[in-house]
Amino acid sequence: MPRNKTLPTFFFFIMCACVLSHDKINNKETVYLLQFREAIQNLPSNWFDNSTTICQWTGVVCGYTPQNFRFVEWIELKSRRLNRILPLNLNESLVALSCLDLRDNFFSGPLPSFSSLSNLEQIFLSSNNFNSIPHGCFQGLESLALIDLGNNPKLPPWIFPTDLNNYSRLVSIGLSATNLMGFLPNTFDSFSILTLLYLSENNLTGVLPESFSKLTKL
Ligand SMILES: *[C@@H]1O[C@H](CO)[C@@H](O)[C@H](O)[C@H]1NC(C)=O
Ligand SMILES: *[C@@H]1O[C@H](CO)[C@@H](O)[C@H](O)[C@H]1NC(C)=O
Ligand SMILES: *[C@@H]1O[C@H](CO)[C@@H](O)[C@H](O)[C@H]1NC(C)=O
Ligand SMILES: *[C@@H]1O[C@H](CO)[C@@H](O)[C@H](O)[C@H]1NC(C)=O
Repeated sequence: MPRNKTLPTFFFFIMCACVLSHDKINNKETVYLLQFREAIQNLPSNWFDNSTTICQWTGVVCGYTPQNFRFVEWIELKSRRLNRILPLNLNESLVALSCLDLRDNFFSGPLPSFSSLSNLEQIFLSSNNFNSIPHGCFQGLESLALIDLGNNPKLPPWIFPTDLNNYSRLVSIGLSATNLMGFLPNTFDSFSILTLLYLSENNLTGVLPESFSKLTKL
């Protein structure tokens, strides 16, 4: 019966691995998610179980760095009736975030700033009540492929964010019903693989930019 001997050893190693990985979660990320837990209502109940770490919380997905450190890679908490104001320093805390999905909730206050989140690929914040946009919010997002802010009707009137023109990996831009006003810039030739562009239910004026004709994948 050799299994009786190997199984306990196997479990011992699993336990060690868990304890080690607990120690290796970036402290800034833990601090941010504890602030998030304080600030936001209606979070899943295991966020309040003190025997868990942030990487075990529902809606938080952690990755491993090559040195075996853990980092917050995804936050996916859509359609959960979450409300109140997100802690603002997201861009200084979840520095390796790749996807943020908080769509279809009741968040209010400013959008979090994404400035300098160079791994961020997908932002889903549609169908909320955000009411302001931090300065420089969309700078330094070299990996950005998808942004959807649609149906945030309480945003103050703003113009198409030309920072997005810097990101040649963009495939999808959703800015319907976000109170966009004024002219669209004639810089759409910077988007070589843009496939989806939602701009309905806004207050845009002027001519459709000539550079739309370069959007061959649209
Ligand atoms: C978890 O810890 C916090 C702060 O230390 C405490 O207020 C809370 O009651 C604890 N929750 C449970 C379920 O023990
Ligand atoms: C985070 O965002 C704020 C507001 O946009 C900005 O002032 C700050 O410089 C950003 N931090 C980093 C590290 O880019
Ligand atoms: C992004 O684009 C804006 C205007 O389109 C430009 O002023 C800014 O320097 C660019 N930023 C980066 C990091 O390339
Ligand atoms: C739309 O924008 C124009 C200026 O371009 C402004 O005069 C008008 O009040 C705006 N309409 C609405 C409904 O916000």
